[in-house]
Amino acid sequence: MIRPAHLSDLDALVRLEQRCFAGDRLSRRSFRYLLTRANAALLVDDEHGVVRGYALLRFRAGSPRARLYSIAVDPRHHGKGAGRALLSAAEQVAGVRGAARLQLEIRKDNHAAVRLYRGMGYREFGSYVDYYADHMDALRMQKPLPANPLPIMTPASDREKPRTVSAGQQQQVITRQS
Ligand SMILES: CC(C)(COP(=O)(O)OP(=O)(O)OC[C@H]1O[C@@H](n2cnc3c(N)ncnc32)[C@H](O)[C@@H]1OP(=O)(O)O)[C@@H](O)C(=O)NCCC(=O)NCCS
Repeated sequence: MIRPAHLSDLDALVRLEQRCFAGDRLSRRSFRYLLTRANAALLVDDEHGVVRGYALLRFRAGSPRARLYSIAVDPRHHGKGAGRALLSAAEQVAGVRGAARLQLEIRKDNHAAVRLYRGMGYREFGSYVDYYADHMDALRMQKPLPANPLPIMTPASDREKPRTVSAGQQQQVITRQS
């Protein structure tokens, strides 16, 4: 089941981050901020109480774009469709919140993720050279979202007007982008 994340998922999210990323991980503090104060949506794949993966969207007030900021699936559950399901749910949430397209940046050498995105209809529209700490380039990808998506699985809070956060608050959690 894919559902919005709660504060009670913090431990699981931090554990997932440790399993899924070698470095540049989102901290517990960042997850807490994202869950409580950021203009963001955090979804988890919960299989009988076990959090197997998450997808994180960020929004900017007044912008027609949403950003897929991060997506991760526990390596023990890779290749079972969880990544695709999380991305699809994230697209629905972004659409319901009024985004016309979903954008992301991804390391050029992250072949699994690039293939997932291409397979889901994302197209490259540019790149950032020397984007990551180890000088790897980033591909910029985007996908148009349907104009009137069905508001399925979206909690009431996601339908409220997005909250505006200051530039300082936005900076606070910028440690990795998709
Ligand atoms: C990218 C990631 C989320 C995919 O999750 P997943 O649950 O394994 O993906 P799915 O099972 O839904 O696969 C969907 C598609 O992704 C692609 N894919 C997934 N794993 C792949 C791999 N190891 N090699 C190549 N393509 C792969 C395929 O196109 C696949 O479709 P197919 O099975 O029809 O070929 C997962 O590999 C992950 O968590 N990686 C570490 C975190 C990360 O790098 N996140 C992205 C940057 S924030």
